[in-house]
Amino acid sequence: MSAGEKVFVEKCLNSYKQLFVPDLLRDKVVFVTGGGSGICFTITEVFLRHGCKGVIVGRNLDRLKKSTETLTKATGQRCLSYQVDVKKPQDILNAIDETLKEFGRIDYLINGAAGNFLCPLESMSYNAFKTVMEIDTMGTLNTSKAVFDRYFKNNGGVIINITATLHFRGQALQAHAGSAKAAIEALTRHMAVEWGGNNVRVMCVAPGPIGNTEGMRRLSPGDPMARDLARYIPIGRIGERVEIGNICLYLVSGMADLLTGTTIVADGGAWLIGSNDFTASKRMYDLAVKARAKL
Ligand code: NAP
Ligand code: COA
Repeated sequence: MSAGEKVFVEKCLNSYKQLFVPDLLRDKVVFVTGGGSGICFTITEVFLRHGCKGVIVGRNLDRLKKSTETLTKATGQRCLSYQVDVKKPQDILNAIDETLKEFGRIDYLINGAAGNFLCPLESMSYNAFKTVMEIDTMGTLNTSKAVFDRYFKNNGGVIINITATLHFRGQALQAHAGSAKAAIEALTRHMAVEWGGNNVRVMCVAPGPIGNTEGMRRLSPGDPMARDLARYIPIGRIGERVEIGNICLYLVSGMADLLTGTTIVADGGAWLIGSNDFTASKRMYDLAVKARAKL
């Protein structure tokens, strides 16, 4: 997060319609990277509303602390947070060891930590591409391996990797994030094959555009564009954070015991008909760069 960037303090849902039994995840523990904000904050909330205990990790300790307080207050469940850079395996191992000391178990891992911005490949620095690969892909590998080594290997568990649909059609201005998510999808299948015998299921959830998120603020800024975007989504609207939470809840539940190594695309059909015009996207990008330069 660069200086001057606005940090949104997260709020819990105003109301939640319980679709599954409220104690579905009683005594279970979820470990969530990127859980201090956005979609993964709400995934954590949905799990906690079903009796789970939570651990959220990220780099911004101040925001993590606020988010844990908010989650605990709204759900009545215990939630801990640790400062972790998912690029650093030792950070992750420390947080897992603390979690196991506090809660004695980890049942579910949600890999949601990610970085993204709009940028055409021709003006993207090597380091910009590498940075996103390191957060998204290496972060997912580092955390999954650490949780497997420390706990899932002997106890089983469920891993959900939050990906995207960017790589399905080579989304304009998204070569870095698309490549990183494609690699996560491949890794998901490899982990599913190698760790299935340890009673570990591994899946991806690939959201489309989801409202009230940093991803949307960066990739499709402003309400008017979001309304326009809805025209290119078969169900006529963008998704809600809680909908991704509910899908993750289903995936860890006994109803999904047969699912592993697969991707659930949660986008209202957006990738099938959404816009992917490089020339138009590049024109808008160049205008935005010019406008910023004038400031
Ligand atoms: P977000 O709130 O910015 O979530 C990203 C999280 O990753 C933040 O909590 C951030 O926390 C954490 N993070 C970034 N770098 C990290 C690092 N090096 N180590 C540890 N944590 C790190 O954005 P979001 O839009 O909700 O996105 C959540 C997930 O959904 C991402 O995987 C994204 O790719 C995916 N997704 C989002 C959309 C959408 O419409 N929003 C669509 C498709 C897919 P810190 O800053 O504290 O580190
Ligand atoms: N356009 C092009 N390049 C960019 C960029 C942008 N908007 N933002 C950063 N970069 C480049 C930097 O210039 C740098 O490359 P360089 O060394 O060649 O100049 C490289 O990316 C790394 O930037 P840095 O700011 O040092 O990385 P970081 O690890 O501190 O932050 C980001 C990672 C850039 C992804 C940051 O935006 C972030 O923390 N994002 C998390 C939240 C998020 O993206 N949420 C949406 C999820 S969908």
